Amino acid sequence: MVRTFILKSSEGRTAPDFSLKSLAGSGGRMDLIARCIVATFLTPRGMRKDAILSIVLEGPPNPPITVTIYGREFDRRLVGEVGAAEVLREALAGRPSKGVRVERKSFERLIRELPRGSLYYLHEEGEDLEKVEIGEDPIFVLGDQKGIDEKGEKVLDEVGAKRVSLGPFSYLASQCIVIINNELDQLSIGE
Ligand SMILES: C[S@@+](CC[C@H](N)C(=O)[O-])C[C@H]1O[C@@H](n2cnc3c(N)ncnc32)[C@H](O)[C@@H]1O
Repeated sequence: MVRTFILKSSEGRTAPDFSLKSLAGSGGRMDLIARCIVATFLTPRGMRKDAILSIVLEGPPNPPITVTIYGREFDRRLVGEVGAAEVLREALAGRPSKGVRVERKSFERLIRELPRGSLYYLHEEGEDLEKVEIGEDPIFVLGDQKGIDEKGEKVLDEVGAKRVSLGPFSYLASQCIVIINNELDQLSIGE
């Protein structure tokens, strides 16, 4: 089972001009994005191969850009959040690492091009994850610090994304990824 996460980053910078020393300030919450990269792929056993992360960058100066990291091919050992942000900065500078793809693609196009089926929108008020049957190769969509805007939600509703909740409390996007990874790991142990 391959799990895919899609992070809609409303302010993520679309140029490689952010400072690795000030990820929260200069990069349009690049700290949040870097944490999501770490949460998706980094484990004490090495890099996770069964995950894909697409980050839709909608911040200035050149939106939208979608950067996708494919765990199966991505062979860089990340060194924390700064290392993750560096991978993104290199990709935006036209030097993507193996397993990293950069496309001029909006959130709407990305979502509409996905195969119909196992698409889940992580939302505090959705159906309890425990009660949802997770399909083959699931795709989970997450918002950033602002959540997902009305236009994004409309697209998700139109393609039939199921709203799934991890509980009534709001978590950081990166924490949601850790929770989902853990849930799916337990499911795959039982397979
Ligand atoms: C920090 S939260 C966004 C909070 C923002 N204030 C809002 O109102 O949406 C970032 C993202 O994590 C996901 N998320 C956070 N807590 C969740 C929960 N309890 N269940 C499902 N998804 C959650 C959602 O996708 C959310 O857009």
